[in-house]
Amino acid sequence: MNVGIIGSGGREHAICHALYKSKKVKKLYCFPGNAGTANIAINIDLNLNDFEQIKNFILEKKIEFVVVGPEKPLVDGIVDYLEQFKIKVFGPNRIASQLEGSKIFTKKICEDFKIPTAKFKICQNENDAQKYLKKSNFPIVIKADNLASGKGVYICEDEVQAFSAVDEIFKGKFGKAKNVLIEEFLTGEEMSFFIISDGKTIKNFGTAQDHKRVLEGDKGKNTGGMGAYSPSRLITDNLDKKILSKIINPTLNAIKMMGSEYKGFLYAGLMIVNSEPYLIEYNVRMGDPECQTIIPKLRNDLCEIFLACCEKRLDQINIQWSEKKSLCVVLCSKGYPDNYNKDIEIKNIKKIELDENNLCFHAGTKTYKDKILAVGGRVLNFVSLADSFKESKSNIIKNLDLLEWKEGFYRKDIGYKVINK
Ligand code: AMP
Ligand code: GLY
Repeated sequence: MNVGIIGSGGREHAICHALYKSKKVKKLYCFPGNAGTANIAINIDLNLNDFEQIKNFILEKKIEFVVVGPEKPLVDGIVDYLEQFKIKVFGPNRIASQLEGSKIFTKKICEDFKIPTAKFKICQNENDAQKYLKKSNFPIVIKADNLASGKGVYICEDEVQAFSAVDEIFKGKFGKAKNVLIEEFLTGEEMSFFIISDGKTIKNFGTAQDHKRVLEGDKGKNTGGMGAYSPSRLITDNLDKKILSKIINPTLNAIKMMGSEYKGFLYAGLMIVNSEPYLIEYNVRMGDPECQTIIPKLRNDLCEIFLACCEKRLDQINIQWSEKKSLCVVLCSKGYPDNYNKDIEIKNIKKIELDENNLCFHAGTKTYKDKILAVGGRVLNFVSLADSFKESKSNIIKNLDLLEWKEGFYRKDIGYKVINK
């Protein structure tokens, strides 16, 4: 069958790579894809805001189902739109995608269903926010309600920082703001927890921990993700049960009670405090770079899993995983997450040594004539599966050394909590 993937990051290349291995897949299309997906799929440069154009292409090329990688088209309702034309889509609908699209929507569900999360207050104007902040303890967390590509979160150490965050949000830094979310600061360790659902059945889809900050030691600015490892060092059977019973199941019930259902990946960003899980945020998609570490561990045919979800038969699938440890190091352009140069050639890319356990997923790359150019901040994702995280890391470093890309940088301490201990 012909399959389409929407997106252009490392996550989408990892998904594309897994679908390419499926016997069921005849032709793969990526909208718009990157230089990595270009090797295994047909990249089509469609405007992701133009659902009609996407729908016309899907119908014309007889694409049987579509996987949506990033959150924006999901939150904008691409699933509802394409399903009107009887196109099978793997991803949550507009209502369910509010779990990522509106932090306040999620907090209200937490309140109604007693889901453990940081204590919070929603303020509708700057005055109320300031009044509340004057009575609060610091640090405190201030968040814009809507999608802000991970940037609408401020950890404030004092009143001055907090007032300025509130001001920026109400001035529209992340789009028109009707309110801000002020949240208790939780101290613990973060973990990414994934499930997949067809609307009826849910199955675990791995755990991971990512490194969001740009500098070693988890310092500096927030980024889209500098590296990750799977499984999380925190997960135990007991914690898994608590996350499902206290957080995931009540959330999916809430979506059902709204007359809707959840189909797709659901990513819970959690803070684990003294072995208890607290929900920090939901994402209605796989994590990036967590996806790049998790998908290569999958033993099943990913196409069969996606199809089963679209056809509500996930209960019939036994998802199996490799026992190996998986680590991902993200190679970025110098200057990221601020300004960086574009259209820089990655000359030695053919020198890296890849096999089924050592993979390189592209993110911000494009092909130009016979060259591969870096066009984004996060450029390549080096992933290795091995018996230990230490071995994964050393396999990755070998390839980064072979690549010797002087215009890039990477964090050398990815996985420090699970290595050298
Ligand atoms: P979010 O976009 O909600 O995931 O927030 C981005 C990052 O801010 C998270 O990954 C956490 O590191 C941090 N963060 C968000 N909310 C809290 C909180 N209530 N307590 C502590 N850290 C938080
Ligand atoms: N790894 C963080 C994210 O995908 O949002």
